[in-house]
Amino acid sequence: MQQGQEQEILRAATRLLHGELVAFPTETVYGLGADAENPQAVAKIYQAKGRPSNHPVIVHVAPDADLSYWARDIPEEARQLIKAFWPGPLTLILPRASHIPDAVSGGQSSVGIRCPSHPVAQALLRQFARLKPSGQGGVAAPSANKFGQVSPTLAEHVISEFPEEVAKGMPVLQGGAANIGIESTIVDLSRIGQGVGAVLLRPGHISASQIGQVLGYTPQLPDSHAPRASGTLKAHYAPRTPLMLFSSQELAEGKLQHRVPAGQKWAVCVFDAGQQPHTEGIDWFEVSNEPVQYAHDLYAFLRRVDQLGYQRICIQSLPEDHRWEAVNDRLQRAAAAFPR
Ligand code: TXA
Ligand code: MG
Repeated sequence: MQQGQEQEILRAATRLLHGELVAFPTETVYGLGADAENPQAVAKIYQAKGRPSNHPVIVHVAPDADLSYWARDIPEEARQLIKAFWPGPLTLILPRASHIPDAVSGGQSSVGIRCPSHPVAQALLRQFARLKPSGQGGVAAPSANKFGQVSPTLAEHVISEFPEEVAKGMPVLQGGAANIGIESTIVDLSRIGQGVGAVLLRPGHISASQIGQVLGYTPQLPDSHAPRASGTLKAHYAPRTPLMLFSSQELAEGKLQHRVPAGQKWAVCVFDAGQQPHTEGIDWFEVSNEPVQYAHDLYAFLRRVDQLGYQRICIQSLPEDHRWEAVNDRLQRAAAAFPR
């Protein structure tokens, strides 16, 4: 935490208490937060994001929060995963406590809860809980971006995405570049009581196999009864510039290079930009060949390239390896937003 940030955090927590929005850093991406127990405040998130109001948002809590205040039932699986991964980039979907408004759960009977590890997020959550008469405070927050767009990994991204809110005084707490860079892993445990085991709703930095090691079984993929999650929509996380994936073979055979129409400029991302010959219409960009670094860089990179005025962003397909599962998920969805 930066020196002198305590005052800013107190001001932000006070605004939350008064039903206003606050943007804050987490280790995954920046969040756009509101008091989770105040439906009018949560409605402001949907309005600012342009997000359909039937999509649930995650409730963020401090490490010392009383989980039974937020969840009706805390199955053993939840305790195991919390012990292993909290605070950190893991969201658990649990049966929701009755006082949690529909605005948070999207009308579903479950609630998504996450305890972030970022020190600024924790300081905000602690301060907010202290201001609440119950001593329990939760901050409902999706990623601080317009609906369907790339999540922010820097405070500057949030400021450029929400100029009106910032002009009206919304605090954007500074927390540097998000360490992880992609959204949390989401595991649904809301149907354990009905005999349905853990379901992986969204892959992330904490992998399915790490979760499997803790639970003793690999989480299943969502079925049609699994809770809805907007991050699981087919087209999501997209930059403004049309994005497409291409195979190493298409590149090696020169097929990609031949697709660039005359007069256009494409940004082409490869693992070895230094090896590529000068090609008319193409600017080569190098991306990390290591999945954790790739995730860290991805959204900031997409935002930067988005501003450079290319007609297309082309990204080399990722290795078929479970270590790439989370970034692959985001890239597949980003590409699905545009016809190839
Ligand atoms: O890393 C993250 O999770 C970031 C930071 C800010 O914490 N937040 C984030 O929020 O990615 P958002 O709204 O962009 O994505 C949250 C996902 C959505 O896909 C939402 O539908 C799902 O969590 N979700 C939240 N509550 C849920 C619930 N009760 N049932 C099913 N899905 C839920
Ligand atoms: Mg989001």
